[in-house]
Amino acid sequence: MEIVICPDADEVGRVAAAKVAQVCRAAETPVLGLATGSSPLAIYRHLQAMVADGRLDLSGASAFALDEYVGLDPAHPESYRSVIHRTVTEPLGLDPARVHVPDGAADDLEEAAAAYDRAIRDAGGVDVQILGIGSNGHIGFNEPTSSFASRTRIKTLAERTRLDNQRFFDSLEEVPTHCLTQGLGTIMEARHVLLVAQGANKAPAVAASVEGPVSSMWPASVLQFHQHATVVVDEEAAAQL
Ligand code: GLP
Repeated sequence: MEIVICPDADEVGRVAAAKVAQVCRAAETPVLGLATGSSPLAIYRHLQAMVADGRLDLSGASAFALDEYVGLDPAHPESYRSVIHRTVTEPLGLDPARVHVPDGAADDLEEAAAAYDRAIRDAGGVDVQILGIGSNGHIGFNEPTSSFASRTRIKTLAERTRLDNQRFFDSLEEVPTHCLTQGLGTIMEARHVLLVAQGANKAPAVAASVEGPVSSMWPASVLQFHQHATVVVDEEAAAQL
C-alpha cells in the first residue's frame, strides 16, 4: 500500500485527483469507480477543475458507483443515484448514459445485483476505484464481517452506519435499512484502488485497516491484498498510524 499523508482535506483531494487523472490518461476509455459520502467530494472538485481547463478529458469515460440504498425513491435527493448525478456526472460533464448506479428500486434485487457485476465486467472492469471509509471500516456498504469474496448484493446497514448517515435525512427512521453494494471481491478487481479519509473520527478505522491484521471486522483491511492500493489521508485521519 502506498500511504500519503497530507496537511489538510483539500490537499487529500488534490493528490487523489492527480492519481485518478494519471490512471484515466493511461486508459483509452477510462472506467471510473465512484464513491458517495463527503470524503471524495474534494477529489471531484479537483477533477472538475482539470476538466474545465483542459488538463483532463473524461468525455469517453464511463463510471460505476459502489452502492445504493434500497427502498428509497431514486428521485430522492439523498439516493446515491441523485448524489452521483449532482456531485460527479454534472460537474465533470460525464455522459449520464455511461454512469451506472445499482438499482435499489428493482423488483428483483438479486438479479439487479448480478446484472451490475455483469455490467462492470462487460465494460472491461474498473480502472480506478475511489473509496471513502466508514467509521466502522466499511468500504462501499460492506459492513464488518462482509466476506472478502463477496459480489454485488443486498446488505443490511449496520446501526453505526445508519447513525452516521442520519445527517442526510430528517430522522433516523428515514434512513434506509438495506442497500445494494458492490462486494469486497468486486471492489478488489479494480485495477487501482484509491482510499481517501479526512478527520479525526476516521483515525481508528484508517489505523486498523492499514496497519492492523487483515480482518473482516475491518473490511477496508482487505485492500492490503491489492497490488495497486493508494491511501490518501489528512493528518487527523493519520493520527493513529
Ligand atoms: C457511506 C458510503 C461509503 C462512504 C462512507 C463514508 O455510507 N456508503 O461509500 O465511504 O459511508 O462517508 P463519508 O465520506 O461521508 O464519511
